[in-house]
Amino acid sequence: MSETELPRVVVLISGRGSNCRAIFQAIADGRIRARLCAVISDRADAAGLVWAAETGLDTVTVERRRYPGRRKFEAALGTAIDGFDPDWIVLAGFMRVLGADFVNHYLGRMINIHPSLLPKHRGLDTHRRVLEAGEREHGASVHFVTPDLDSGPVISQVLIDVGDHDDEDRLADRLLPLEHRLYPATLALLIHHSVELRNETIHLDDKPLDSPLVLGRDLDDHGRLDGSRAG
Ligand code: GRF
Repeated sequence: MSETELPRVVVLISGRGSNCRAIFQAIADGRIRARLCAVISDRADAAGLVWAAETGLDTVTVERRRYPGRRKFEAALGTAIDGFDPDWIVLAGFMRVLGADFVNHYLGRMINIHPSLLPKHRGLDTHRRVLEAGEREHGASVHFVTPDLDSGPVISQVLIDVGDHDDEDRLADRLLPLEHRLYPATLALLIHHSVELRNETIHLDDKPLDSPLVLGRDLDDHGRLDGSRAG
């Protein structure tokens, strides 16, 4: 497949961009057969945006404060995204809540990573909330983006045990390297298999997915499925 025929990926970030880097690396290593067309940020000072520009990637900044309302901001963001004609829009630490019209325009091809075992702990401060609830298991989820925040169908998860010595920072530090494996593996799965959102249900290779794929059990780092899950 020539470079121009590869599936096109655009990543949206607001900050550090470590998940974006992990996806870039997986594409560079050949684990994902795709082209990272652009990194788009709502913050000009996002560290991940600086890294992307230095790496030679196309970068775009669409700052919220430059637009009088959310609709105008989202129109500009949509124009920036659509200019790259992406097959997949990957939210990686993009810290804006997006409106229903915007989200529905990209339904089935926009994904997000969230640091909890969804549907538990939507929104912010997930590590703190896991500790407060006394939960012994935590993790991260990759899900399709739907209009309700962090509520779209979950494609994949990675799990960690919560130990007696964990605090918020330690949990975040232990989970992040696993996010860096989960997100590329999931994107590889989406690109190398048929994964469709039909009426809020994920279909993997034409079969409904009844529970999220677990990294290291159902899904490997290359996005390959364990035998029992493979179609
Ligand atoms: C990650 O923890 C991700 O799960 C959450 O925001 C954080 C982004 O980190 N949505 P980074 O910008 O990818 O380093």
